[in-house]
Amino acid sequence: MIFDSNELLCTNLLTTPKPEVGTILVTGATGYVGGRLVPELLARGYKVKVMARVYTKDLQQRWPQAEIVVADALNLDELNLALKDVKVAYYLIHSLLLGPKKFEKADILAANNFRAAAEKNKLDRIIYLGALGDKNSHLSPHLRSRLHVAEVLQLGEISTTVLRAAIIIGSGSASYEILKSLVKNTPILFLPYWAKTKCQPISIRTLINILVGVLETEGTEGQSYDVGGFEILTYERLLKIMAKIQNKKRLFVHTSFSNFKFYSYIASFLTPVPAPVIKTLFQSGKNEVLCNNEGKLPNSIYKPVTFKETVLRAMTREELDKVHTRWSDEYPRAYELAIKLKELEKPPYYISAYSLVTSKPANSLFSSFCKIGGDEGWFNQNWMWKLRGILDSILLGVGTSRGRRSMNTIRIHDVVGFFRVEELEMNKRLLLRAEMKLPGKAWLEFKTNEENTLNRLTISAYFEPDGWKGKVYWYNFLPFHHIIFSNLIKNIERRS
Ligand SMILES: NC(=O)c1ccc[n+]([C@@H]2O[C@H](COP(=O)([O-])OP(=O)(O)OC[C@H]3O[C@@H](n4cnc5c(N)ncnc54)[C@H](OP(=O)(O)O)[C@@H]3O)[C@@H](O)[C@H]2O)c1
Repeated sequence: MIFDSNELLCTNLLTTPKPEVGTILVTGATGYVGGRLVPELLARGYKVKVMARVYTKDLQQRWPQAEIVVADALNLDELNLALKDVKVAYYLIHSLLLGPKKFEKADILAANNFRAAAEKNKLDRIIYLGALGDKNSHLSPHLRSRLHVAEVLQLGEISTTVLRAAIIIGSGSASYEILKSLVKNTPILFLPYWAKTKCQPISIRTLINILVGVLETEGTEGQSYDVGGFEILTYERLLKIMAKIQNKKRLFVHTSFSNFKFYSYIASFLTPVPAPVIKTLFQSGKNEVLCNNEGKLPNSIYKPVTFKETVLRAMTREELDKVHTRWSDEYPRAYELAIKLKELEKPPYYISAYSLVTSKPANSLFSSFCKIGGDEGWFNQNWMWKLRGILDSILLGVGTSRGRRSMNTIRIHDVVGFFRVEELEMNKRLLLRAEMKLPGKAWLEFKTNEENTLNRLTISAYFEPDGWKGKVYWYNFLPFHHIIFSNLIKNIERRS
């Protein structure tokens, strides 16, 4: 199966759908939270506009009933068009991936633009998901920026509901994958002082229920709510609970060494999450993110669950291979803007192709090569792929341990190790674009073609070098290509 069906999360909500609210715009729909919110709204009968910075076919394929609008929140004109005829907007945007020097300014500009466009288009309401954190304490830049965005949106004429959440735990969430992998992959865990910081993690399922619930609950307009899980726990406790769930005996050692950069770098080798993402999360780890229950959400929307229950749910989703969105959907930033193979003016400078003819049917060859990466590895010479990934992590690249969202389903833009799916043609072709650090641009293509009554399976590596460094790189890796691809093609055929 290429595309997966979306399983709904709002099955036990006590609120009733109100499609009469009019058209709803979901920003950040390509992200972790937005990607789960859209199918819920559609299933409840709402008219939904999905806002993305780049139009891609897969968005329409994922949500055929939704209208896709293209706009960058940093561009007021584009926003004005996107918000036309919209009545309610979910604001799920952050600019974190622009890096520490730029993201705060971009967050404020985007929020100001959004407020202006919402006023111009006379929206009834904005619902913003931000983050917890005490504004009177010394907040990390990320948490500080989330609070500023809330203030900017609330300054306007449009009634804005602000939901403030702590870390989100769920299948595919970065925080969950970091905690799980740290415990799984290292027998000794060194804990800096900030491991004692308290937090109130929330399950993604609860959060989606809340996002939909406030839309359907009168009186929540213009209010601010802190939303969190059932318990207040330290990060150390989260790791210990995780170790218990995984049935792993781990040694926890407290240390006075607390450098965020160092811990993020080391954690990037132990988890699928790259160092820059981990660093942002760790930096916020020094701030308590706890609910201050001043304005309480009605019980009809809000049923917090324990951290243990949340983790068990996430693990079940992984076992069922039903992870719908993942942090890697959004990393690295603006990957949608990367040059595509078909956009090159000339064919790539280097092409090496391997092929064989087989009696196996095209659909089984296709499903065999679509399983590449992730838990099943690269079918042969896995150590070589791993080594290349480690090299990439050392250079602060994406690494190969990102794995994949699902083993049995694949869609355009999914991550596959250090590649990303660029094109996908059912029973014919899978084109992967390399996202690792390279002196050039690289693609890997798997293709089947009918040849008389048989099928030809072809693997092609394409490389467009950046100057002499790229050329040296290509010739250095050519012998490895030969070993890897000639074995890979046989394994794909054998497994199909
Ligand atoms: N994930 C968590 O653990 C967590 C915890 C607490 C609160 N939150 C809050 O929840 C919200 C959503 O978080 P998330 O984890 O779903 O984020 P995410 O996966 O990183 O996605 C961010 C989204 O923002 C969009 N975006 C960024 N810059 C944009 C711009 N200039 N114009 C239009 N769209 C832009 C991205 O679109 P592109 O695809 O075009 O890049 C993407 O869809 C955020 O406000 C975040 O602070 C998240």
